[in-house]
Amino acid sequence: MMRLDKYLSDLGIGTRKDVRKIIKEGRVSVGSVCVTEPAHSVLLTDLIKLDDETLAYEEFSYIMLNKPAGYLSASQDSRDKTVLDLLKAPVPKGLFPAGRLDKDTHGLVLLTNDGILSHRLLSPKRHVDKTYFVQVDGTLSEKDIAAFADGMALEDFVCLPAKLEILKSNDSSSDALVTIHEGKFHQIKRMFLRIDREVLYLKRLSIGPLILDPSLNEGEYRRLTPEEISSLKSL
Ligand code: URA
Repeated sequence: MMRLDKYLSDLGIGTRKDVRKIIKEGRVSVGSVCVTEPAHSVLLTDLIKLDDETLAYEEFSYIMLNKPAGYLSASQDSRDKTVLDLLKAPVPKGLFPAGRLDKDTHGLVLLTNDGILSHRLLSPKRHVDKTYFVQVDGTLSEKDIAAFADGMALEDFVCLPAKLEILKSNDSSSDALVTIHEGKFHQIKRMFLRIDREVLYLKRLSIGPLILDPSLNEGEYRRLTPEEISSLKSL
């Protein structure tokens, strides 16, 4: 359940103050009943209208989440908290994370119930770019950039050429951006282990054209804009 005023302001109709005024003016109906109480509880599945215009009916939901460490990229788990536990409003039916991050990885997770889009993003044939910020122990050098660019052989597969961009490097640790084109289990950690480096911190910044919104703190999320949805669909 969610307050009607929050529902409307989350949709970008206006600030909390704006939408309270709109509700009190009798311009909003829930399931064809005019509601003038901003605290009225609604479900995401309710039919909500503003001035006779149906709001936010979406066939599918698309949510970008800034995942903190400690949450599993799964819909449910008997032991651990999952990324869906971070959503405060009622969760649309069938929502799941499109692609997995390790429990200790931070950053961009796309939650959707659009199976076709998710399948497309995850298909190994499509090679959708994923960019990560990574901090590793020890130095990184030109030799490592070349090792990533050459297509690194791991135990079970050979990675496509990956881009390693060193941001800062010293004896104790290095920061870098890494772009890979697959999404194999522990891929980034295993690539760095191959060059004798341990990943200390890992954060996903983008999936194809979808870039993590820098205004989202860890644990926060928002709906994708229509432009973001169509950029993913046109991949
Ligand atoms: N590579 C990893 O090693 N872990 C992740 O969570 C994502 C990519």
